[in-house]
Amino acid sequence: MTSEKADIKRGLKDVVFDTSEASFVDGQAGKLLYRGYNIHDLAERSTFEEIVYLLFYGELPTQSQLDAFDAELRASRSIPDEVIEVIRVVANSHPMDALRTAVSALAAFEPEVNDNSEAATLRKGVRLTAQGPTIVAAHHRIRHGLEPVAPNPDLNHAGNFLYMLSGAAPDEETQKLMDVDFILHAEHSSNASAFGARVAASTLSDLHSAVVTGIGVLKGPWHGGAAEEVMKMAMEIGQPENADEYARNLLEGGGRVMGFGHRVYRAEDPRARHLRERSRDLGEKMGQPHWFQILRYLEEQIMVPYRAKGIFVNVDFFAGSIYNLLGIPEDLFISIFALGRIPGWTLQCVEQYRDNILIRPLLDYQGPMDLEYVPIEQRG
Ligand code: ACO
Repeated sequence: MTSEKADIKRGLKDVVFDTSEASFVDGQAGKLLYRGYNIHDLAERSTFEEIVYLLFYGELPTQSQLDAFDAELRASRSIPDEVIEVIRVVANSHPMDALRTAVSALAAFEPEVNDNSEAATLRKGVRLTAQGPTIVAAHHRIRHGLEPVAPNPDLNHAGNFLYMLSGAAPDEETQKLMDVDFILHAEHSSNASAFGARVAASTLSDLHSAVVTGIGVLKGPWHGGAAEEVMKMAMEIGQPENADEYARNLLEGGGRVMGFGHRVYRAEDPRARHLRERSRDLGEKMGQPHWFQILRYLEEQIMVPYRAKGIFVNVDFFAGSIYNLLGIPEDLFISIFALGRIPGWTLQCVEQYRDNILIRPLLDYQGPMDLEYVPIEQRG
């Protein structure tokens, strides 16, 4: 195809490439539904375990369905010793690289690895959702010279993750913060990492390959990496009174304020509200209000003119300040996002397999044409 004819949609902006029942995003209204349910109700009233059930099976569970599903998740948390050994080998890499490598290694021990039926894909999705925190926590401890902590079946998904990271069971409030964070990250329609996962599934590759793809795509600072970048920025700013000069220098130099802007939302990302409130409350409770004050200054004083362009705060803006106050280091932030997103990637792969078509767009070739091949000995 030549450039005169091609109708190029760079970045696939505004391209609708398939249908989905997973989530609804109204970028103009700032509205997000998972399987029809408003994210505000889910963030305030649900649990991550319930959200995974909802995403996988399309409806909210009864109490007995949830109990059985939760028991399945809790029973699926351990990872083979061989995968722990792989994690030791890559101990010095970024947590996202370790997660990507360990999920890939898990495929070697997955009895249903090449079964792409809906039932098997969901079973694998349950296992990957349950095993993800075990990987991230094991890597985190190993890189600090500590032994991994075995999963605790008495704790819920969020509580067990924090327990495996630190070796101590979190209090109720901290556990709930982590739970809400996982809920808010669970699914988000055709975001870049879910699209990557669907491209992998569309070749009829397996779920583990698709999740590895998703992890790789999520890692970038224009997608899941933004929370880490926001926290680094807040640390560089240091104190609220430095925020003004820092941000103006950044923007005048053509830089972007991380945690702002979104390909789809032209209003505030509805997930941000829940993290904003929690960031404020936690900062006050812990006597460390400065992160929230810095972020609010950027939001309220610096970025206001950008609203006219549809640039508002996104889910990543306040997340990092919460993790920081919980004692979680910046380079774990994207991994936490990935752990929340495994159910969304799984569901989108199920949808892709259900009515598969190879995802394979075109590129407009703009290089030279029909060049004469010159043998190497004749090249000058
Ligand atoms: N700070 C300053 N200006 C911005 C920002 C920002 N964070 N985001 C976009 N803009 C500006 C762009 O420079 C551009 O300006 P121009 O029209 O003068 O050239 C305009 O707003 C439109 O931006 P686009 O690049 O067209 O927006 P796009 O939809 O391609 O990008 C993206 C979206 C990548 C998320 C972008 O907003 C960005 O880089 N944000 C910072 C990184 C970030 O927070 N990523 C997390 C996204 S949410 C998530 O993945 C969970």
